[in-house]
Formats: sequence, C-alpha cells, structure tokens
Amino acid sequence: MLSYRHSYHAGNHADVLKHIVLTLCIDALKAKEKPFLYLDTHAGAGRYILQGEYAEKTGEYLSGINLVWQRPDVPELLTGYLSLLKRYNPLETLKYYPGSPLIAKQLLREQDKLHLTELHPTDYPLLRQEFSKDKRATVLRADGFAQLKSKLPPASHRGIILIDPSYEMKDDYQKIPLALHEAHKRFATGTYLIWYPVVLRKQTQRMIDGIIKLGIRRISQFELALKPDNEQKGMTASGMIVINPPWKLHTQMQTILPWLKNVLDYEQTGHILNTELVPE
Ligand SMILES: C[S@@+](CC[C@H](N)C(=O)[O-])C[C@H]1O[C@@H](n2cnc3c(N)ncnc32)[C@H](O)[C@@H]1O
Repeated sequence: MLSYRHSYHAGNHADVLKHIVLTLCIDALKAKEKPFLYLDTHAGAGRYILQGEYAEKTGEYLSGINLVWQRPDVPELLTGYLSLLKRYNPLETLKYYPGSPLIAKQLLREQDKLHLTELHPTDYPLLRQEFSKDKRATVLRADGFAQLKSKLPPASHRGIILIDPSYEMKDDYQKIPLALHEAHKRFATGTYLIWYPVVLRKQTQRMIDGIIKLGIRRISQFELALKPDNEQKGMTASGMIVINPPWKLHTQMQTILPWLKNVLDYEQTGHILNTELVPE
C-alpha cells in the first residue's frame, strides 16, 4: 500500500532543510580519509523533474528550493548544497532536483560505499538506473528499517544513516525509536539523521520522546516551521533529529536556520529550533 511518491514533494521546504543537514554531515565525515558507509533506508527515486506533471501539480518546490535558488545572498555554508544543484541545473532554470541518494553519490569518494533501499515499484527501478554504473553502491528493493539490523555496523566502522520515511503509514512514528534502539546497539558511533514532519505536533513529539527515552547520548534537533502548529490537515513544520552530530553542526545551523526562515517563511508565522535534546 505505497501511494506516496516523493516526486510530488521534491524540493519543498522540508527537502531543503533535510538535504542541507545531510550535505553538512557528509562533508564533516570527509574530513578524514578513512572510508565510510552512507545508508539511506528510504531512498526514493533519486532524481526529480521539477517542471514535470508531479512537482508542477503541487508546486511545493516553488515555495522551497525555488526561493533559495533565486537568492543572491546565500550564506557561504550553503555553497556545497547549491553547487550540487548546479551540477544538475547548469543553466539558470531549475529543472531537476537531486534527492538524498544523488546528493550522496556526488559527495562520496571512491573509497566510500552507499547502501540504498526503496520499496516503491515505480521508484525503485528509477533509483537502480541512477546507480547502474556506480560500483560503490548497492541498491535494493527492500524494507529500509530491516537494513538497520542487517547492515550495521559497517565494515569501515564509520557511517551516516539517513532514515527518511514518508510517514504515510502511521506506524512509522513507532517504528523509528525501535529501529534506532537496534541500530545503536550495533553501531553506537554512527551519525543518524532522522527526518520528521509536523502534521500533528503530539504525534511527532511522542516519537521524539521515544527517541530520547532510549538512553542514547548526543542527540540534536533542527526544525523549521512555516506555520504555527495546528490540527488541520497538512505539514506545518519539519525537522531533523541528529544522533552524534558533527561538532560544528549546531554553529553552522545557527547561521543557516535564521536565513532559511527569512527566505521561506514569507508569512513570518513560523519558528526555528536548534536544540541539543540529549547532551554528551
Ligand atoms: C520521503 S521519501 C524519500 C526521499 C529521499 N530520502 C530524499 O531525500 O530524496 C520516502 C520513500 O520511502 C519509500 N518507502 C516507504 N516505506 C518504505 C520502507 N519500509 N522501506 C523502504 N522504502 C520505503 C517510499 O516509497 C518513498 O519513496
């Protein structure tokens, strides 16, 4: 019962926040020559056409990446993220948006590995095609949560794990703390990035409380809300929970989050969070 297609949402404000955090975390791991694993449990199709029938239908990218793309005053810290976008959009027009697997594909080095899983029958072949010539990558049509047991710890003992479900199935909220518990037992030093939407604040907060109760140390939260919380249908905010964040991330996000809010929150009704949920 997979009806969610990320192509309707690619490049929206949630993708922008998620992919900025991802880019900064990958860059931080590259400070050492030693190889690492990039594990993407819910990888999506990889590449999205913004001026196609899906993205045009919702127009979400217009109030997301499109606003960032047009700005002349982008902070230096975002040049890595934007130069990835420029590789897919060499002309001025924003036509393609790279999802998390393509971002990692561009940033990872020869010695690193990618392990990507996607369940959707249409998106999986698209993703596989993107990596057909990439020897560093394994692409599977498999359950992403199960990979956290079977693929961790990585042989390199270094890794970034992106957990980015669609929350189409409400049990994703419950599965995440359980999956993290298992993953962290196997690989305590990995950097885990968990994306979350805020549709109903209580539902999201229950999941975050569940993560905090695991007893894992060094957990951070980065959130961008474009509207106040409400009980109506629709996502008002999104965020990233990061376990074992790179040491510079909070400082970097102190510059990035206010700038993003200023660019994306044109009604000025949202908020940002840059919080250490659990210290060292
Ligand atoms: C939010 S999208 C992923 C977007 C992608 N990570 C990115 O940032 O570009 C979530 C994806 O998870 C897929 N999916 C849903 N349940 C899954 C599962 N149990 N295992 C793997 N993939 C799943 C959906 O088909 C969808 O493509």
